[in-house]
Amino acid sequence: MRTILVTGGYGFIGSNFIRYLFRQKGFKGRVVNLDKLTYAANPDSLKEVTAKFKARCTSVKCDICDHELVDKLFKKYRFDCVVHFAAESHVDRSIYGPKDFVETNIHGTFSLLEAARAAWADRKDVRFHHISTDEVYGSLGRTGKFKETTPYDPRSPYSASKAASDHLVMAYHHTYGLPVTISNCSNNYGPYQFPEKLLPVVLINAIEGKPLPIYGDGKNVRDWLYVEDHCSAIWRVINKGRPGRTYNVGGDGEMTNLELVKGICDALEKLVPSSENKALKGKRYADLITFVKDRPGHDRRYAIDYSRLRRELGWQPSVGLAEGLCRTVAWYLSNWQWVTLVRSGEYRKWEEKNYGGRGKTAARAGGRGRRNAR
Ligand code: NAD
Ligand code: DAU
Repeated sequence: MRTILVTGGYGFIGSNFIRYLFRQKGFKGRVVNLDKLTYAANPDSLKEVTAKFKARCTSVKCDICDHELVDKLFKKYRFDCVVHFAAESHVDRSIYGPKDFVETNIHGTFSLLEAARAAWADRKDVRFHHISTDEVYGSLGRTGKFKETTPYDPRSPYSASKAASDHLVMAYHHTYGLPVTISNCSNNYGPYQFPEKLLPVVLINAIEGKPLPIYGDGKNVRDWLYVEDHCSAIWRVINKGRPGRTYNVGGDGEMTNLELVKGICDALEKLVPSSENKALKGKRYADLITFVKDRPGHDRRYAIDYSRLRRELGWQPSVGLAEGLCRTVAWYLSNWQWVTLVRSGEYRKWEEKNYGGRGKTAARAGGRGRRNAR
């Protein structure tokens, strides 16, 4: 894989994946990150890797729904592989504003597929890898796990848009022979996650002595996967997975939300005891737990059966939930400046400074593209 297009590389998992790639001794290729720089993007997350591998790691501001620009970039960079992370990813936002989800997750994926089909024709030495979610399978009862053969049953606008994109990706394989793979994974956690998802919301609120919001009764179950394990699974599928095949990725980390939040509180008590944190005003972290109104259509339980990935490609997760939680809490504590920047709107200012505002994407690839490339 010589030139890899990563979409959404300024996001949580995309940036972890790019850092993971450049840590692999055998990786000699080049990465081009296409990112629209939405609220969830964070250029700082790639600062170090971009500085260290200047010649091999480039970012371009690009909305994947912009067919013309995506086509031009395929021609300019001659990608051998696409790793497609870019998406609107937050379920709550999809409930209150589904439009962007339909645009980016469905139309954006379509635009990439079309560009890949045009650029690659009958090439078989290429790969289009699509990152999807276990949420496409719906909600489980007390028992059972999602397998790759579980029928799709998405419940939220987010998961419905991801399901639609999965179907499009597979359709391009069956219809046009595009060499695609898909991975459907469970809830990721780890460094650089945007503070809207459960884990960073709770962690940051706890440090600041604010309520820790738990939806409903807190008994919804998620299967937590450390983000670096997800990255290693994706790389394994790209290199060893069979075109036209789907692989589930899980962390053996089933836990109720209430248990997880208590686990974060325990990890914090060890690292920054509540007795030494003035914001707590004499309370313990767990005292901040607050049950709030439930999410509409809240899926009850997710659990992943990743035996296909283990059996066929020899992958399994390496970081247990207790260890992963400690690492994540420690990362946020020692990267508080990142948290402050992400929450302060500094990135909008950064965007203004570097790109002259959202409307001005005239400096495009193929033309005067320099202002877009970092
Ligand atoms: P994220 O929200 O942290 O990052 C998304 C990135 O995509 C951002 O950098 C954003 O600017 C970019 N983006 C959004 N719309 C774009 C567009 N139209 N054009 C170009 N770039 C655009 O997301 P994440 O949590 O890192 O998730 C990455 C992928 O993994 C998504 O496809 C998501 O569905 C999937 N996934 C996430 C999880 C999880 O737990 N976070 C679990 C399973 C699957
Ligand atoms: O399962 C994979 C999915 O995991 C990904 O496809 C999504 O992109 C990702 O956002 C994540 O979706 P969830 O909805 O499961 O993640 P979230 O962190 O929003 O919520 C996790 C659980 O915690 C869920 O049951 C809702 C609950 N929750 C969430 C928030 C933000 C709370 O109880 N309180 C909160 O404040």
